[in-house]
Amino acid sequence: MVRYAAAVLWALAAAAAATAAAVANSGAVNKFPDGFLLGAASAAYQIEGAWNEDGKGENIWDHMFHEHPEYAHNGENGDVACDSYHKYAEDVEALKGIGATAYRFSISWSRVLPTGDLDVINQAGIDYYNNIINLLLENGIEPMVTMYHWDLPQALQYIGGWPNPLMVDYFVEYARLLFDTFGDRVKWWTTINEPYIVACGYSSSGWQAPSQNAPGIGNYLAAHTMIRAHARVYRLYEQEYRATQNGKVGIALNSDWYEPAEDTDSYLEAQERMFQFQLGLYAHPILLDGDYPAVVRQRVDNNSAAEGRPRSRLPSFTEEEKQYIKGSADFIGINTYTTTIVEPGDSGGVPSFELDTGVIRYQNESWPGSSASWLKVVPWGFRKLLNWMSNEYPGYPIVVTENGYGDWGELDDQRRIDYYGSYLAELLKAINEDGVNILGYMAWSIMDNLEWASGYELRFGIYRVDFNSTDLARIPKASASFMGDIFRNKTVPDEYFQ
Ligand code: NOJ
Repeated sequence: MVRYAAAVLWALAAAAAATAAAVANSGAVNKFPDGFLLGAASAAYQIEGAWNEDGKGENIWDHMFHEHPEYAHNGENGDVACDSYHKYAEDVEALKGIGATAYRFSISWSRVLPTGDLDVINQAGIDYYNNIINLLLENGIEPMVTMYHWDLPQALQYIGGWPNPLMVDYFVEYARLLFDTFGDRVKWWTTINEPYIVACGYSSSGWQAPSQNAPGIGNYLAAHTMIRAHARVYRLYEQEYRATQNGKVGIALNSDWYEPAEDTDSYLEAQERMFQFQLGLYAHPILLDGDYPAVVRQRVDNNSAAEGRPRSRLPSFTEEEKQYIKGSADFIGINTYTTTIVEPGDSGGVPSFELDTGVIRYQNESWPGSSASWLKVVPWGFRKLLNWMSNEYPGYPIVVTENGYGDWGELDDQRRIDYYGSYLAELLKAINEDGVNILGYMAWSIMDNLEWASGYELRFGIYRVDFNSTDLARIPKASASFMGDIFRNKTVPDEYFQ
């Protein structure tokens, strides 16, 4: 009954917001609002190569793939990748080719600070990012910079990496250098990309650097530090840079839409738990009240006690920390690709994140697929997720920081075209019919690149890169002209609205 009443209220609020949005947008559901950022994304380790050139320090991915080539598909790694360290001008050409108005890329921490600390500042690394930023701006493309896309300097991993609370200070000092150096031109910052996946690097081995196998413990310690680090960087910007630089600082979280296998209370509760454990673990403290969601706190505390531990595996924030964490974002970034089915139940060992959630996740094999087992094409789930976020975290604009489709690299990539067409149609329905406040959409990815432990075989690019060629040219796929039409006309073709 309570749920039904809330749903009715929500529907009324959404209808009112939709009316306002439709008026602002002259009622055209297939059009993007004025000023909407349309672009594509990449990440340093996946594209740059030049892993040890011009003073760059080793990071945890260099280290893991060199020490353990067996963790990666065919022993591949990011030593050369797309060679964007030398070919960034071609990346900007590719962005121009699709009419992008923004480019989301990341800065390699160990390229600017080889030891992770301020004892060595690598001018060649700073020059490299200055060159990219300047070239983007000359071409009317807004730089959207990720400070941390998974590539911790190895020197900081030797002292524990993200579970070490001191990482907060190292990250704040790195961020200060970025604001000082690039903040006159960069107006869109995201602190950490997918902290949920970063944390997996401390709860499992063999796929996510730094491959530290401390399930149910390392992931929460890493999450705790990342939340504090993000919030401290946000406050730094607010206190010392915003007045002169006038930019925005957010974080890029990731989640699927979680669809309950049944429409009954226990399944709906499992769905809610999954969202709170994955998105809420970060978004609840940062956007709502400075603390973890109650259901997460309660379940991890209870399981920890049942395991005979003297303390919870999930640390607690002090009152002072809650105050500076609460409200520490100008926008909420979301990386999302697919929908996953959920139901109540136990999976994972003792202890583990999975067991703490009390949720079982699996794919609906009858949904259209991709070349990635985890990626099913479910456009309606995208709209539901955007609505869920807007409802759960009111007042925070959303930026879709990643969305895209993986195949084996066909130039005639009709499946990618249909993915983008149908997902963008659902995005526009969320904006123009449901009144969700969304500021931008970044396709993943501008070009084929190293898909981490999946290597170069699984490809997300709008441009093809032939990794066996000597020139590593960026070759437009069919989706490049499709996205170019959408980005230039600010309109998604009608056929995707049927
Ligand atoms: C999430 C990550 O941020 C990005 O690095 C990765 O390549 C894509 N999703 C596709 O899996």
